[in-house]
Amino acid sequence: MREPVLRGAPRLKADVVAWASNSDGELVPWAVVEVKRGSIAPLAAVPTLNAFRENLGTADHYAVVNGDWYKADRALQALERVDGPTPPPHGADGIIRDADLAPPVGHRLGESAVERITEAYLLSLMSREALWDVRRRDVAALSRHRRWSEHASHPVIAEAVTGLLGARIEGDILDPFCGSGAFLWSVADRAAQGGTSVRLHGRDINEQAVEIARTVGDSAGVSVDIRVGNALMDDLLMVDAVVSAPPFGLRLYEPHQLLNGSTTVEMEPAAVDVALRHLKPEGRAVLHLMGSFTSRKSVGQYRAFLAENYRIAAVIGCPPGAVPGTNVASTLLVLDNAAPGKTFAGQAGEDWATQLLPGGALLEAAMAHIDGDLDPRP
Ligand SMILES: C[S@@+](CC[C@H](N)C(=O)[O-])C[C@H]1O[C@@H](n2cnc3c(N)ncnc32)[C@H](O)[C@@H]1O
Repeated sequence: MREPVLRGAPRLKADVVAWASNSDGELVPWAVVEVKRGSIAPLAAVPTLNAFRENLGTADHYAVVNGDWYKADRALQALERVDGPTPPPHGADGIIRDADLAPPVGHRLGESAVERITEAYLLSLMSREALWDVRRRDVAALSRHRRWSEHASHPVIAEAVTGLLGARIEGDILDPFCGSGAFLWSVADRAAQGGTSVRLHGRDINEQAVEIARTVGDSAGVSVDIRVGNALMDDLLMVDAVVSAPPFGLRLYEPHQLLNGSTTVEMEPAAVDVALRHLKPEGRAVLHLMGSFTSRKSVGQYRAFLAENYRIAAVIGCPPGAVPGTNVASTLLVLDNAAPGKTFAGQAGEDWATQLLPGGALLEAAMAHIDGDLDPRP
């Protein structure tokens, strides 16, 4: 690769990096070449060669000065004239297992065609696990990207939503407003950790978001079915769990009929309704909604209907900061398709990002109520 930029060492620049297999069959940056012209000593290449060896553990180091090849000794203190590079001892048929060796995402957006081809080739040589790691990091970065934030939830919220599913990480799991799929990918990780089997289903009205989600889903290691569609109109599968963050504050063009017989032009009650309609008995929906869902007058009747007919297992308020690209407060709502019962009500403070991660006090307290049959906290 000419002048590659690698995720694990984005500031390192070398003229050429050649990849080869190490003794474990893993494809790694093996040789570095610095090219110089003019009246310059081969030793001038040593600082760059050294930086590569320290950061990436490269094995062979060369300077090419005015077309002549020089190979560095192991200590990188002397260079000896050679005819050309030494063939790698373990060949070059391995796969890349280290996600840090992928190009960083900023480099991938809008670079030259040659770089995009090189990058695609590099990614095609990665193990499924390494590629998954790369894609997961890319999705997390999207939530900080101005153009994409409306299609990508905050990574901590994705973790919290999955955490609130508790032991329900099994079977068919649907996100009807999946965006780039952050919630589904968090479910995939949790299923892999817990050894459960999941089939992930996603729907989004935005074709580019679906394309991103499909690309990520290809390396998820579980069954993933993501489609372009309108969650309010499409036929969706009956599932064991729903995870979702419908668009915030959207008004609908046409009234949507809710389960209580009334109609709404607000996206949020319509989205909650879609989730409930597709939940199997005892199934759970975990939704990230605008904070005002719990207090807005326009949703009052529908909230009362929910409380009378479903188990509102938890309502957790999140301060501004939890919704990328906005400054609004939000709510995590946990609904079980089960008989009504007590509700855990909590409010995350400034430290919401630690409170809501697995092991965080608020998430643990909520789970103790939701799945532990303990008395709800105030
Ligand atoms: C807040 S984003 C979801 C982000 C997602 N949780 C993630 O982390 O990637 C809401 C998504 O709903 C999609 N959307 C809007 N209206 C829709 C509809 N009627 N049906 C399906 N998706 C819709 C938007 O394109 C957007 O990607």
